[in-house]
Amino acid sequence: MAQGMKLLFCSGLAVALIGVNVMSAFPGKSHSGGKDDPVLQYVVNNSLREHPVLAKLKQRTLEDRWNIMLVATEQAQFMGNLMKLIKANKTLEVGMYTGYNALNMALSIPENGRVVACEIENAYVDIARPFFKEAGVESKIDVRIQPAMQTLDELIAAGEAGTYDFIFIDADKNNYDGYYERSLQLVRKGGIIAIDNVLWSGLVVNPAADDLVSQNLDALNKKLHKDERIDLSMLTIGDGLTLAFKR
Ligand SMILES: C[S@@+](CC[C@H](N)C(=O)[O-])C[C@H]1O[C@@H](n2cnc3c(N)ncnc32)[C@H](O)[C@@H]1O
Repeated sequence: MAQGMKLLFCSGLAVALIGVNVMSAFPGKSHSGGKDDPVLQYVVNNSLREHPVLAKLKQRTLEDRWNIMLVATEQAQFMGNLMKLIKANKTLEVGMYTGYNALNMALSIPENGRVVACEIENAYVDIARPFFKEAGVESKIDVRIQPAMQTLDELIAAGEAGTYDFIFIDADKNNYDGYYERSLQLVRKGGIIAIDNVLWSGLVVNPAADDLVSQNLDALNKKLHKDERIDLSMLTIGDGLTLAFKR
């Protein structure tokens, strides 16, 4: 029995911290749940190749009280490698926080590539920007500070449907279904939608009657399993990552 911590997000702010008991079949993120897992630390020690500015941004982010939201570094690297594999150029992130994954995306795409990064909290964007500049990729990252749903709708209205290569969904969990449906419009055939936190510390296995977030994530997982518009894999990296490949 592992003691897990779970955040609920509302309008971009973490509003509640709840202790939960979860039977854990996976260690979670290497900087939080998997901090004391020797196998996961071995994986990180023997495979993480972190750009020096990413390492600095991680250290800065770990000073933030909500650093549990930071993407797992090993997962960010994996997604960067996937982007290289599919030769991604146009990418999008829903939920940027302090910008670790957005920066890694920018470093993983060509010089003329683009990252649209959705975030609702100015304070997080202010932390991120100097690191984007230091890494020399600030011109690649287009930060949109407003509700992500609005940004996705605007991109669709601007005629960008079918033009994105890679989209990472990692914001407020109760809006995931809306983000997924819009992302499916925006991504090209053969493009990838990566959805974070699909295991939610294992709570999706048997969601409590009053746990709407776990119920919604579980419903989305089950919907994707049957969704004929995509091929998929659900991975136990980080807090659970689903990769949806648009058919
Ligand atoms: C889990 S964090 C993202 C972590 C990030 N991908 C990284 O690389 O570390 C989720 C972020 O989504 C933001 N967020 C929450 N609701 C949002 C919304 N409706 N629109 C845009 N961003 C939102 C939060 O402020 C928070 O920074």
